Amino acid sequence: MSGFSNPVFRRLCVRFGAAATVSEFVYSRAVLSGAEAVMKKLRFTEAERPYGVQLFGSDPSEMAEACSYVEERLAPDFIDINFGCPAPTAVCAGAGSALLKNPDRMAEIVHVCSRALKKTPLTAKMRLGWSESSIIVPEAALLLEAAGAKALTLHGRTKLQGYSGPADWTLIELCARSLKIPLIGNGSAEDLSGAELASSACSAFMIGRAALGNPWIFENMRRRMEGTEAFRPSRSQRIAVALEFASEMCSEGIDGVSERDFARALPQVMAFLKGFSGFKNIRRALSGVKTLGEVRAVLEREKDL
Ligand SMILES: Cc1cc2nc3c(=O)[nH]c(=O)nc-3n(C[C@H](O)[C@H](O)[C@H](O)COP(=O)(O)O)c2cc1C
Repeated sequence: MSGFSNPVFRRLCVRFGAAATVSEFVYSRAVLSGAEAVMKKLRFTEAERPYGVQLFGSDPSEMAEACSYVEERLAPDFIDINFGCPAPTAVCAGAGSALLKNPDRMAEIVHVCSRALKKTPLTAKMRLGWSESSIIVPEAALLLEAAGAKALTLHGRTKLQGYSGPADWTLIELCARSLKIPLIGNGSAEDLSGAELASSACSAFMIGRAALGNPWIFENMRRRMEGTEAFRPSRSQRIAVALEFASEMCSEGIDGVSERDFARALPQVMAFLKGFSGFKNIRRALSGVKTLGEVRAVLEREKDL
């Protein structure tokens, strides 16, 4: 997720049960510029594997070039194409969910990108369609499969739905049963019961917002499918992981962050504490902090409550 998927968070997700992780989406043209800021967004460590780099764009040959560039320089486990982002940045560039209006162009992009890659599997992520009256699955998903996609993620909402309203798991299931390649179901998957997850015919599930401040969700989804009791981290466990997250975000090396990045990390630290009694006060205390030492002081105080 843009603004949230970083090496520290991805490592926590894997440690607590995620089967794979993905970078935030980056514009193929920006990748080709080789700008340090863009490449920094894509860097990862071994502990995040299997790890995929997600690209968005609208020009098939530029995207194919960006795929080769990423394959050569970063060697991720897969490269994913974004056909779902509803944000104006993507849509105005004719990319992301704008492409849901043009399944042939989506297929062309998948075709040229998968051919450009020497050994890295090409996957794609899409939504149901632009709007309720222009649903393109399963037909478009079948086109992408024929074009060379090795797996697909389907977010069961339309572009116009954005991130709210129910995801349509009936259409996700229809799509999963129509394809030969694995389908990864996405869209408030954490609201599904174990039986619903099992009957969806999906090979895996992608968790977005529910993982923020809650990397235990991955293990708990597995437990739900197995019918075993969920793991509920205690207050002190959550504070300990929040502290670990904050310190790693500030450590040097691959995850070295600037003051600006630090400010961006704070909402993620806060997310670990959501639901605590007195959360409003914690949020107020954290919103003014400037250094790791100050974050630590706030969290240590909470530990003792
Ligand atoms: C802040 C934010 C950033 C996101 N960034 C990306 C992104 O970079 N790439 C992507 O494929 N989806 C992105 N998404 C969409 C999520 O991956 C996911 O498809 C969506 O939130 C639905 O899943 P959920 O109900 O589990 O959150 C983003 C969503 C949010 C809320």
